[in-house]
Amino acid sequence: HCSSSSQLLLTLHFLETTLSSRSSLALLLIDSISAFYWSDRSEGGANISKQEEKLSKSSELLGRLLRDYRITIFATCHTIRRSTSGPSSSDTDRPYLCRTWQRLVTHRLLCSRQEAGPNQTASDRGDREQRRCQVFRVHCTSSSSTGTKGSRTSSFRVTDGGVEFI
Ligand SMILES: *[C@@H]1O[C@H](CO)[C@@H](O)[C@H](O)[C@H]1NC(C)=O
Ligand SMILES: *[C@@H]1O[C@H](CO)[C@@H](O)[C@H](O)[C@H]1NC(C)=O
Repeated sequence: HCSSSSQLLLTLHFLETTLSSRSSLALLLIDSISAFYWSDRSEGGANISKQEEKLSKSSELLGRLLRDYRITIFATCHTIRRSTSGPSSSDTDRPYLCRTWQRLVTHRLLCSRQEAGPNQTASDRGDREQRRCQVFRVHCTSSSSTGTKGSRTSSFRVTDGGVEFI
């Protein structure tokens, strides 16, 4: 439960001790890596390196953990660029976190809500039936060190039984 990017950095430093003493640990989940984006920007003033300093350091550390402990890191990240020209614009998925972080990313999953049909725009948004109808989309892109890229898109619903791919 970090409340600032400094705390995140500190937490990751301590994590190394845990990883080195428990070799069965293989997965690190971060929710979310963009949580302190706006507070870092505000604290950094006009200086971009200062704005990105903490996340850069955290990313360097994560890169080291990936290399030394062969773990998998899964991180969520908010989409902040909302396009005004329609939901199909690729402007919504432009990476905005620091380059040190972007260099670590090998797979990106962009989740979005599929355009609501007439049934989903009804005013009663709490209705269970309507929520069951809501379709989400996930666009996956991957890149490897050799530069090859793959991409695919899947649609899914969230039902009482869990995620159901369509
Ligand atoms: C911007 O911030 C970085 C990192 O804190 C610092 O090294 C650099 O001197 C700053 N640049 C300016 C122009 O203040
Ligand atoms: C809206 O609901 C009706 C009746 O429940 C259904 O037949 C129709 O296919 C739905 N339309 C959409 C766009 O989901």
